[in-house]
Amino acid sequence: MTVVALVPAAGQGTRLGLNRPKAFVELRGRALLSWAVDGLFESGAVDEVVVMVPTDMLSDARALVPSARVVVGGAERTDSVRAGLAVAGAHDLVLVHDAARPLTPPAMIGRVVQALRAGASAVIPVLPVADTVKQVDADGAVVATVDRARLRAVQTPQGFTTEALRAAYEAAPNELATDDAGLVERAGGTVLTVPGDPLAMKITTAFDLRVAQALAQEQS
Ligand code: C5P
Repeated sequence: MTVVALVPAAGQGTRLGLNRPKAFVELRGRALLSWAVDGLFESGAVDEVVVMVPTDMLSDARALVPSARVVVGGAERTDSVRAGLAVAGAHDLVLVHDAARPLTPPAMIGRVVQALRAGASAVIPVLPVADTVKQVDADGAVVATVDRARLRAVQTPQGFTTEALRAAYEAAPNELATDDAGLVERAGGTVLTVPGDPLAMKITTAFDLRVAQALAQEQS
């Protein structure tokens, strides 16, 4: 079974407050995109990588990740994944992995692929939620306390049989989702969880970038 990894890297990263798209922000002198693509190949579990970037970053991205195929992404993350799916070669399995998770351990990527090889059609890495989580109304007043024991924070790469992911995207041509497994769930598919890793943290804010800098330094 062969595996393609789609790497959405077309976000503007406005919450990070820097003057370039998030995937091109550097961590210890290397773009987040480069960290993410190298990690995928290092796992030994991936045969092809397709990266989706903003139009004006196409040539920069091609220079940064020469081993990947680079195409233009879309206005929303789901549009970017669609753009990647449209050009990916014929593979049995597909991973979708945020460029914004530069320190994802290759072993965790291997766990996701292993679960797919064992027969799952959709697999997501998850972590327990440490904080108590409350639902609030528009004014910030608490509506409910959610049972923390049953909550999980979801990371990437998320893995699918190509058939399951294509079917989920075709079933919901106009829907947006913050993760790809959400579309598979809506299409009635079963999604399996495997243990995630705190190192697969997503860089969203300047604080996250500081934490990742410290972790990367510790690892080097
Ligand atoms: O915005 P967020 O942090 O959830 O984005 C997750 C990943 O999706 C990032 O790697 C980002 O570059 C990517 N993305 C994309 N196309 C968009 C929006 C986000 O590829 N239109």
